[in-house]
Amino acid sequence: MTHDEQLQQYLLPNYGRYDLWPVRGEGAQVWDRDGKRYLDFAGGVSVCPLGHCHPAVVEAITQQAKTLMHVSNWYCIDKQAELAQVLSDDVAGIRGKSFFCNSGAEANEGLLKLARRYGVQARGVAKPKIITFSHSFHGRTMGAMFATAQEKIWGGFGFTPEELGYLRLPFNDAEALELALDCNPDVVAILVEPIQGESGVNAVTAEFLRKAQRLCRKHQVLLLLDEVQCSFGRAGEMAGWKAIVPGDEIQPDGISWAKAIGSGFPLGAFWVRDVEITNPAGPTRLCDLLGPGSHGTTYGGSPLACAVGLATIRTILEEDLCSHARQIGHDIAVEMRGWNHALIGEVRQFGLFIGFELNVEAITPLAGGKAPSIFLARKLLDAGLMTVPAGPSVVRWLPPLNITSQDAAEALRILRLVLDGLAQHSASSSA
Ligand SMILES: Cc1ncc(COP(=O)(O)O)c(C=O)c1O
Repeated sequence: MTHDEQLQQYLLPNYGRYDLWPVRGEGAQVWDRDGKRYLDFAGGVSVCPLGHCHPAVVEAITQQAKTLMHVSNWYCIDKQAELAQVLSDDVAGIRGKSFFCNSGAEANEGLLKLARRYGVQARGVAKPKIITFSHSFHGRTMGAMFATAQEKIWGGFGFTPEELGYLRLPFNDAEALELALDCNPDVVAILVEPIQGESGVNAVTAEFLRKAQRLCRKHQVLLLLDEVQCSFGRAGEMAGWKAIVPGDEIQPDGISWAKAIGSGFPLGAFWVRDVEITNPAGPTRLCDLLGPGSHGTTYGGSPLACAVGLATIRTILEEDLCSHARQIGHDIAVEMRGWNHALIGEVRQFGLFIGFELNVEAITPLAGGKAPSIFLARKLLDAGLMTVPAGPSVVRWLPPLNITSQDAAEALRILRLVLDGLAQHSASSSA
């Protein structure tokens, strides 16, 4: 049986895959099974901050695999303790405690459980509600999926978000949030992505984030940030929200992480702020609410996963890749904007988290029924550049943070070539 036949016969049809079979990677490059080379500006969807097969990551995996790969969380794991300190000190920059899991959805599940436990125990709310925002994406598990304010994600699974205790509000609407918190005493937390990735690289405004924090404190509501896609240098800062509000002004109560933290090795985490709460029924610090038996996982935080996490974060810090991402991302955006190309509109750029709006009207007639973003991403792939659609009208670039200016120039050259080709086609078909 060929691999193509195995894939058809034995894998669930839940992904709309490209017919591309990558077999090897190095830095920002990937080769497929026919030996064709691609420039990888998809980065596993924000997963590979150091590119493919970075020596520090390979060395960490190799050494740890030779030493101790897994023990149960019944025992104490040195690398887990070290990584938790790095997350508090060097990523969040705030005192708090972490729990390790395997993915972004799981990290968000942890935050959702924390919020509900906080609501029931500390706030005395029988059925706690959590606010999330339009166009959000928080993952595909039962909690994270219904927290996601996009019907295409949760529809068809038998419940409504409201039935499961989620309220929806428009993204970046501080007045709507104020009203909702005034009218709903059962709300115990808000969960927001500082930069929404899946729906088109849309950031919260500094004004919204500041006001949300003020309102949360006033109503004893937890401020939870989904940093799964935007952290670890992706947006030019270790903490994604600091690309929006620099410094220590924003102090989230909880954070979820995954993707880049493990350089592609499955690792996620959620973090809880060390802050005093009123809790008649138990611990009086938020970070101690989830006590023994309240949460757990078999694999999360294994010695192997945490060794990779430590190597990844330390390399980002040591090589100052946040500054590099800010600089090179800025250069890319300046170049793209400078084209004033008829087929692209707004370019949104935070470090190396870049999204550009497509001229939907011009591209749709060429796209053969596909969403313009999917159509363009396919064209770019054929031309040797891997990118990611973000919603129907935006294409995302999430390259490794250590790309060179030559990599950036090559990606821009391919994009320009493809756009110019399409523009010509569009002009001749409308003539
Ligand atoms: C912001 C955000 N949260 C959560 C998730 C879910 O992460 P995972 O696919 O690892 O479960 C994603 C994945 O794209 C994401 O972008």
